Amino acid sequence: MVSVLSVFGLFTLLLSSTLASAVPKPALAKRDNGVSARVPYIFPAPGTDEIADEIRARRTNGTLLDLDGALLNSPLMAQGWNDLFGVIRDNNSLPAQMRESFILRAAALNRATYQWLQHEPVALSVGLTPSQISLIRFTPAHLFQNSPVASRTLGPELTAAMILADFINVDVHVPDFAFEGLKKFLTEQQMVDAFATSGGYAFVSRFTVGLNLDGEMDVVVPSS
Ligand SMILES: *[C@@H]1O[C@H](CO)[C@@H](O)[C@H](O)[C@H]1NC(C)=O
Ligand SMILES: *[C@@H]1O[C@H](CO)[C@@H](O)[C@H](O)[C@H]1NC(C)=O
Repeated sequence: MVSVLSVFGLFTLLLSSTLASAVPKPALAKRDNGVSARVPYIFPAPGTDEIADEIRARRTNGTLLDLDGALLNSPLMAQGWNDLFGVIRDNNSLPAQMRESFILRAAALNRATYQWLQHEPVALSVGLTPSQISLIRFTPAHLFQNSPVASRTLGPELTAAMILADFINVDVHVPDFAFEGLKKFLTEQQMVDAFATSGGYAFVSRFTVGLNLDGEMDVVVPSS
């Protein structure tokens, strides 16, 4: 019995590692559609523009996004954006699942389809589940409070993060209970990173939606 089980275990292990290497990682899939925005995309050839090359260095496959193409109309803004969002993405003291929850929640509340499409695969790749993502997508503003479904599915930390995110995005003013609700799980550095992440991606929503990146301003945020 033991050997049958362990042979079966080995088989499923081999099968799942074969499948894992055959299925492309979602984070690597191309997520831009190339549809023009309200400003042209500027894509300097590699090696011809220092700022564009710095941005390429942190992008998947070294490929500039349509977002970068829009930003490169204003090179110093593009550079400052790359520095700030590079830290929010790669040097954030928040757990990755909380970081991506803040980002997706801003996209859902702000109806920011471009931002959602970029980050949903990242959220999955750091381990957020489809049912957690669906709650982040569909829970109306301020209804994470007193929601047994939300706290059961997200757990207390992510629920507290989403309660805070709704105040940051919708109200700007954050009541003490929403601050303290998350603070009991996090350090002060992490709280600063929570506001920088949530507020930063509220800015990303306003930039990508207002400039109609990829023609997605009026496209409904998907509900996968
Ligand atoms: C990265 O490269 C792979 C393989 O060439 C390609 O399938 C994928 O679309 C690329 N990703 C991006 C974001 O360009
Ligand atoms: C920021 O994150 C990047 C990517 O993980 C890493 O290479 C870099 O060393 C980090 N920077 C600092 C100052 O920790």
